[in-house]
Amino acid sequence: MAAKKVTLIHGDGIGPEIVRATVRAVEATGASIEWEERPAGEACAEEHGTPLPEQTIESIKENRVALKGPLTTPVGKGFRSINVALRAEFDLYANIRPASILPGIQVPFDDVDLVVVRENTEGLYSGLEAWLDREKNIAESRAIITRKGSERVIRRAFEIARSRPAKRLHVVHKANILKATSGLFLEVGREVAEEFPDVEFHDVIVDACCMRLVRRPSDFDVLVTTNLFGDILSDLTAGLVGGLGVAAGENLGDEYAIFEAVHGSAPDIAGRGIANPLAVMLAGGFMLDHLGFETEGNALRKAIEDTLAAGDIRTPDLGGDAKTQSFTDAIVERLR
Ligand SMILES: NC(=O)c1ccc[n+]([C@@H]2O[C@H](COP(=O)([O-])OP(=O)(O)OC[C@H]3O[C@@H](n4cnc5c(N)ncnc54)[C@H](O)[C@@H]3O)[C@@H](O)[C@H]2O)c1
Repeated sequence: MAAKKVTLIHGDGIGPEIVRATVRAVEATGASIEWEERPAGEACAEEHGTPLPEQTIESIKENRVALKGPLTTPVGKGFRSINVALRAEFDLYANIRPASILPGIQVPFDDVDLVVVRENTEGLYSGLEAWLDREKNIAESRAIITRKGSERVIRRAFEIARSRPAKRLHVVHKANILKATSGLFLEVGREVAEEFPDVEFHDVIVDACCMRLVRRPSDFDVLVTTNLFGDILSDLTAGLVGGLGVAAGENLGDEYAIFEAVHGSAPDIAGRGIANPLAVMLAGGFMLDHLGFETEGNALRKAIEDTLAAGDIRTPDLGGDAKTQSFTDAIVERLR
């Protein structure tokens, strides 16, 4: 197959360490990828005067696919999240975050296999925030939910559910309290459900959903929800399968796709060479599938699973003492 061009963003904090590891593993599968490296994030803002330079946007526009390390967002001040900006710029409305059991990792349940589909461009991430008084004692955030935005992400989630053995979908909401915004999302869910009679449809209130997820996660197959609930729920589901170090995500629109980890830039461990590269590596596997390199994607997943199953090498977040590099060496070795 002809080489596919992919925009590569190393990102902040542990980003460069885990993206480097992922590039090694993806290349070891033999997939023909031409990387186009472009900057973004906090370090980029210091060097280029902007956290999201035009050259990065242009590169993604041209290549349509990017693999991205995590980007730091200043808390409570400074520039707006570049992750949110990229999702808006490329209309990446569906954030797909699977959580399933990997071999050799100690987890509370052995039957977790689910996918959180998070609406990625609306809700409380619309950026509509204001102070309601001069003294800054009263603040407001507005959540925007549209019928069109809900419909397309819910339809995408149903298509995923239809392709899976359990064929079960939950719309997760808070329509008892947020009657307009969450109510609209649920109403659209019920409407779209009629197009998919082969998929078992349920709705669940987000707080009850959290409780059930930590007691009996096997109740769930595909969960579709609004932006903030999806952000929180997908960290919870990551916790069910080994933590943020193994949680990968895809940001999909109709034309563009950006692959990344669920986790952030982990400043507390950056530069120490101990970050778990698996989340970005698994996202690299999704990227290979998306580009038509399914055989290579499967090979990468198998090498990761075999390395974990062997049980002798893992990073500290998974209870081991391996460095990012030696763990990556073990995966790359299997791919050869
Ligand atoms: N998509 C993204 O780029 C993205 C996502 C979430 C957070 N962020 C940003 O990242 C920054 C840090 O956020 P945070 O500290 O709240 O969350 P975080 O996800 O970076 O870290 C949370 C905890 O998980 C650990 N962790 C995360 N990834 C790990 C890995 N691969 N291996 C081992 N341990 C790992 C960290 O060490 C930390 O203890 C913030 O600026 C935030 O805005 C970016």
